[in-house]
Amino acid sequence: MQVSEKHEWKQLENHRNRIGKMSLDKLFSEDAQRFDRFSVENKHLLYDFSKQKLDKSVLQDLCKLAISCELHDKIEDLFNGVQFNSAEDIGALHTRLRAKVLNSEVELVLKQMAKFVSDIHQGNYLGITGQRIEYVVSLGIGGSDLGPLMACEALKNFNRANLVIHFVSNVDPQTISLLLNKLPPNKTICLINSKTFTTLETLENAKIFKIWFEKHLGENAISQHMLAVTASHKRAEDFGIFSRNIFKFWDWVCGRYSLWSAVGLSLALIIGFDNFKDFLLGAYQMDEHFRREKFYKNIPVLMGLLGIWNINFLGYPTLGVIPYLDGLTHFPSYLQQLEMESNGKLVTKAGEYVGYNTAPIIWGGVGCNGQHTYMQLLHQGTQIVPVDFIASVKVQGHENLLVHQRMLLASCLSQSQALMTGRSELILEETLNSRLIQAKMCPGNKPSSTILFPELTPLVLGNLIALYEHKVFVQGIIWQIQSFDQWGVELGKQLTKEILPDLCSGKIGDSDSSTSGLLKYIYKQQLSTDVEFSK
Ligand code: F6P
Repeated sequence: MQVSEKHEWKQLENHRNRIGKMSLDKLFSEDAQRFDRFSVENKHLLYDFSKQKLDKSVLQDLCKLAISCELHDKIEDLFNGVQFNSAEDIGALHTRLRAKVLNSEVELVLKQMAKFVSDIHQGNYLGITGQRIEYVVSLGIGGSDLGPLMACEALKNFNRANLVIHFVSNVDPQTISLLLNKLPPNKTICLINSKTFTTLETLENAKIFKIWFEKHLGENAISQHMLAVTASHKRAEDFGIFSRNIFKFWDWVCGRYSLWSAVGLSLALIIGFDNFKDFLLGAYQMDEHFRREKFYKNIPVLMGLLGIWNINFLGYPTLGVIPYLDGLTHFPSYLQQLEMESNGKLVTKAGEYVGYNTAPIIWGGVGCNGQHTYMQLLHQGTQIVPVDFIASVKVQGHENLLVHQRMLLASCLSQSQALMTGRSELILEETLNSRLIQAKMCPGNKPSSTILFPELTPLVLGNLIALYEHKVFVQGIIWQIQSFDQWGVELGKQLTKEILPDLCSGKIGDSDSSTSGLLKYIYKQQLSTDVEFSK
């Protein structure tokens, strides 16, 4: 039976009109305990969902829906390694990478990572010309890029080794040329992150780096300057990577959940291995919270259910993620892959077309910047966009910057307040003409949640990422979809492989007239595929 046919789903539909018409202001004025009732604090963070459009009975019915979907058992299945990725017949066992008791394979790789990090930091691992390594280039795309990119930026305060890291994911010749022109090859290592070691963009970039190292440092340079993080040892070796420089992860780790594996090597290089262990611990603590807490106090469960409520019952198909700290600049993109690649699905696990919306369209960017760009639409546009506000309480940086920190927090709180309360008192300003009065009005009644934590540390970041991972899991279970495959992205990959030979040989092929027209334009501009290195 599809979830939308369940009695519990219908019960929630019955709440829609009542709650849809209710104002958030009214919900607060009627219940002095509303914040206490609709917020949860765990060891690392506070989740306030009191500004979401719900009341006690909606929450009860959402929890009943979760129970009817046997969510509790499914959570246990996740931790017990029951096969979730049935389509590829592999598990989704990322939580094993951060468990209290690790299996021997995982421990071995962690040890290899710890040694490598320490060798680089201590200067025991040198470049082929005997120079210390000062630059790290991390190649990879999707889950093999976004996690380390996001986390290295988030934890830049914890940089222990003054290593400079560059991430290359796209195949944009300009970016790569600029980078190659400025990097000293003898002080640079390149990590190739690819689970499959078949990903077109990553391999193409890896080839360029290989040529570059060989050109500047000789044929043996690869042995010391290129390393791989992959589930395909053989392909990495065939590429030329030395066996001792291959860091393994496993088929049972889905790409977008791989930051906890050796894909986290670049992060560990930047923040040091002890901090990396704290990062894993933070995620483990969220795992425990997810596994043990009652649904009413369980942050990922609540977050997942509220998303379902907003998307499927209130009809809000997007989610804005607005962190009020620059460290989380890449967090919205990271969540785009996590949520949209996991749950952007149109058939159930049983192969039936879903009769309801699935993953939200995730977008976002850091506040205060957003207040000067897209927040206008959120306050006065015609569409309702729920938001997750995220902020750190303590100053990160110089203590003289306390006022800055307070401005950030004040901005964050005022935006969620403004979305909720809106602005209608202008009616009383008699000097304004009626057009201006209308133009200045903000209807309010827009839902948001706020996540606060004391400071963005490795522990807190681990906790925060695992929170969203489990939220995605909850929603996948309720929507009855397969969250651990991504067949949709395969079509694009396949078509690229078909168009690329045409493009290289100047052919038009027999595709649709738009693609042919675009190809003709490209040929007219005499596209050059030559890459020149000035060094
Ligand atoms: O974009 C599809 C995808 O398969 C992602 O799921 C994955 O994270 C990314 O490509 C990179 O894949 P790989 O790590 O195998 O290079």
